[in-house]
Amino acid sequence: MILITGALGFIGRNLVEQLKKEKKDFCCLVRETSDKKFFKEEGISHKAVNLGDMRQVKDAISSLNATVIIHLAAAINPTRRQAEQDLKAAKNLVEICKQKKGKLIFASSYLTDTYYKSLYGEYKRKAEDFIKASGINHTILRISTVYGAHDRRNVSIIISMVKGYKFVPIVDLSIQPVHVNDVVKIILMSLNKGKGVYNVAGDEIMSLEQVVDIIANQCNRKIIKIRIPRFILYGYAWALALIGKKQLLEQLNNLSKLRGMDTIMTKKEFKIKFIGFKKGIQSVC
Ligand SMILES: NC(=O)c1ccc[n+]([C@@H]2O[C@H](COP(=O)([O-])OP(=O)(O)OC[C@H]3O[C@@H](n4cnc5c(N)ncnc54)[C@H](OP(=O)(O)O)[C@@H]3O)[C@@H](O)[C@H]2O)c1
Repeated sequence: MILITGALGFIGRNLVEQLKKEKKDFCCLVRETSDKKFFKEEGISHKAVNLGDMRQVKDAISSLNATVIIHLAAAINPTRRQAEQDLKAAKNLVEICKQKKGKLIFASSYLTDTYYKSLYGEYKRKAEDFIKASGINHTILRISTVYGAHDRRNVSIIISMVKGYKFVPIVDLSIQPVHVNDVVKIILMSLNKGKGVYNVAGDEIMSLEQVVDIIANQCNRKIIKIRIPRFILYGYAWALALIGKKQLLEQLNNLSKLRGMDTIMTKKEFKIKFIGFKKGIQSVC
């Protein structure tokens, strides 16, 4: 049986849909506070558990014959407290994998590269290091910016802007988008792989302006682009940072100096051809 954390999130929903299609045996571990309507409607097996509490995790899993854990749950723009909780959760799942001789598939991020600076990346890196040192069978996927069905952040915000407004702000930032179907494909292929760390990113590094142009073209929208000087955004981000909310500033810093992820190893191992952005965005518009 496959256990999944973070199944109600963007990537999780897509993964669950695919697992259902493939009639795989799986169970989702969710928070007590999570909205479980989706699981009930879809008849999906799930258990409520606090991943930071080892006893609860053990109790929840003891009766299940789990061989793999796909660990997606995490706060995306975490406070330090959330980042520490996420690290604790990852450590608990590693412990369970050790005891059950199971495998862990861990959703990590391109921000683990020390070239970037963020609390999120720092804690994902700590989790990666812990997993690697544990000796368990693992696949770590360092994922770039994901887009596709069920996205409520990332590219979907740009799509909403292009669809809903005549004037669209353009900032000098870049992304290396990857379609969620490719991410799900790689997660599923990881079920049968040995230890490894892989970069998961599309082939194109694109400026925000290119992304907006492609979306406007695909959605048949005539928009007027308004270039926002960096100093205005940075001013706002600095103001937030001064009251302890550093996430926007970190995001701006990282996306303004984005360097491409090398996916040669990933393509070789998974024999995958990443969906191009123009094609991938068609289904979302
Ligand atoms: N999306 C991307 O572009 C991207 C890029 C790189 C890496 N990743 C990684 O991929 C994974 C999934 O990302 P996503 O975009 O699907 O995230 P998401 O949409 O924000 O979903 C996160 C999921 O994790 C759950 N969660 C968060 N904190 C939790 C906690 N302390 N205990 C239990 N569950 C918790 C949430 O549960 P509730 O439903 O209860 O809120 C939600 O279901 C994350 O680990 C993320 O870091 C994502």
